[in-house]
Amino acid sequence: MEQLKGLILSGGKGTRLRPITYTSAKQLVPVANKPVLFYAIESMAAAGIREVGIIIAPETGGEIREAAGDGERFGVEITYIEQDAPLGLAHAVLTAEAFLGGDPFVMYLGDNLLQGGIDDLVSAFRANAPEALILLTPVPDPQNYGVAELDGDGRIARLVEKPAQPASDLALVGVYMFTARIHDAAKAIKPSGRGELEITDAIQWLVDAEATVESHVVRGWWKDTGRLDDMLEANRLILERVERRIDGELEHSQIDGRVIVEAGAVLERSTVRGPAIVGAGARLTDAYIGPYTAVGRHCVVESAEVEHSILLEGSSVRGLDGRMESSLLGRNVHIGRSTRQPRAYRFMVGDSSEIEIL
Ligand code: G1P
Repeated sequence: MEQLKGLILSGGKGTRLRPITYTSAKQLVPVANKPVLFYAIESMAAAGIREVGIIIAPETGGEIREAAGDGERFGVEITYIEQDAPLGLAHAVLTAEAFLGGDPFVMYLGDNLLQGGIDDLVSAFRANAPEALILLTPVPDPQNYGVAELDGDGRIARLVEKPAQPASDLALVGVYMFTARIHDAAKAIKPSGRGELEITDAIQWLVDAEATVESHVVRGWWKDTGRLDDMLEANRLILERVERRIDGELEHSQIDGRVIVEAGAVLERSTVRGPAIVGAGARLTDAYIGPYTAVGRHCVVESAEVEHSILLEGSSVRGLDGRMESSLLGRNVHIGRSTRQPRAYRFMVGDSSEIEIL
């Protein structure tokens, strides 16, 4: 078989993760202190893929280039491909046509996380040589995804993008494998109701053309990290499998269970209950960090309790009475107690922020 390439889609506006995505690409929001995008690159490297194209948007492309670089540290060679406007996943494939050439490829949505990687899929694709291989998983809200309808023999009968009345609960996962035939499909289809060239419609075109489209139901979990709750869940799932490693300094502090404390982090009179991660240079003083929390680099938690949350680099939480939980703080966000009079809540908060108070 020709060289198998990788294509990661890392454009899009990330409207469902505002305000974080006003200043940062959604694919760079960290899960267990590592950008979501890096999991996709790593799983391609692990499957033996060397040439990876990353589709970027004009607004966030620079930041993505800076984060992932030339790919050397992942063991791949990255080519960046700019997509002028978010006109759909099939449009992204067409944008990458020069990079992909006639080669087969794995396409991976840069905000998706797939447990177990893609090694098995790559093997199945090589062994069975279909024109496309798609992944399906049952979801409670299929109307928010591409949905597959199977026939009596388990073959794909029809694929519909975000149907109002889904024919099944099987959603299309954002990881696909294609031969070059997908280019013909992407050129043949018309934009959908939301004005995008849908990859779901392109795969349906292959089905109509009687090309073999193989489907697998994913084992293990899959997450599209488009919204806050999904982000927190992805963080939880990744933290579930961390191995305990304490490289930071502990003074009168206690660590329970699977916790990573990176070098340069300092804990004083604090307790961390895993699974959790505390990034390099973070400082915890008289703090409690509960399960499923990722404290980013150079964060400060002082006289406060934080659980089931993600704190991005440089943020601080100080002097809270109640426990903070199920929260996502962007970079350099500061939450604290004021001693000035009159006693009042005081905020300086960006557009689309959400605050809930007891
Ligand atoms: C896209 C696809 C959809 C797929 C989903 C997986 O949706 O269009 O078919 O099920 O990714 O994450 P979007 O993220 O564009 O809403």
